[in-house]
Amino acid sequence: MKRQFAVFGHPIGHSLSPHIHRLFAEQCGDALDYQRQDVGVADFADAVLSFFAAAGSGLNITVPHKEAAYRLAVVRSARAECARSVNTLWQDAQGRLHGDTTDGAGLCADLQRLGFLTASARVLLLGAGGAARAVVEPLLAAGIARLDLCNRTPQRAYDLVQDMRHLGTLRALPVEEIDSAYDLVINATAASLHGEVMALPPVALAPTTACYDMVYSAQTTPFLAACQAQGVQRCSDGLGMLVEQAAEAYALWWGRRPQTAAVLSAVRADLRAAL
Ligand code: ATR
Repeated sequence: MKRQFAVFGHPIGHSLSPHIHRLFAEQCGDALDYQRQDVGVADFADAVLSFFAAAGSGLNITVPHKEAAYRLAVVRSARAECARSVNTLWQDAQGRLHGDTTDGAGLCADLQRLGFLTASARVLLLGAGGAARAVVEPLLAAGIARLDLCNRTPQRAYDLVQDMRHLGTLRALPVEEIDSAYDLVINATAASLHGEVMALPPVALAPTTACYDMVYSAQTTPFLAACQAQGVQRCSDGLGMLVEQAAEAYALWWGRRPQTAAVLSAVRADLRAAL
């Protein structure tokens, strides 16, 4: 019998998660049914409880429900506690709801694949919302030299640093106070959803700087286009992060981690073909 999975979000129409998990299941020879479900904020808790009551095996949770999923989970991983975010849910034999976040691990796996993450890296993270919070601890744990945070509203970056400064070399600064180039710049803002880009001073970017956008798109994202216009040559969008976080969720549910390279190529080709 097929095990039942789903991704809950709002909106959810363009989610690639069902496609990615079906490709993993094909690769691993697992019998899986994976659906996407548009769930409004007011209905989220009921929808999760109903899904598991109907013998569902696992849920992925996306925007805007990751914090609500964190609150709903009864048993949370250490990384979910740190991020205050949950993107993967399942129930144990006692019926307790477990929550974990695989976003940070997914980001770091993709950065490793790209060769963007080095031990001496000076890294700039743009944003101080849920997406940024979820990746601070894994980035610091990856052994980078320093993590700086800039946010449109600087106070939110200061607050995040206050919360997480015990985890490593982390500081917040206003974007206009950047005075040297970074090895890696990661965009975790929602600016592109509003057709905007968080502008960086030219000094932040050297020709050797790598730029990573946690958003993905069939075309160059606005953030990466702005970086390229400033002379940056090494760029990547977040499609690899999406595939890697899915592989990590798959491993939590099935006890085996699928190979990601072929799945990433297939999903990239599909995305381009849909243009
Ligand atoms: P998410 O969970 O996606 O991170 P969020 O918690 O609402 O969502 O945070 C959105 C992030 O994108 C914030 O860092 C936000 O900056 P503010 O704290 O100043 O709101 C950032 N953001 C959204 N629109 C932006 C824009 N047009 N320019 C720059 N940053 C933007």
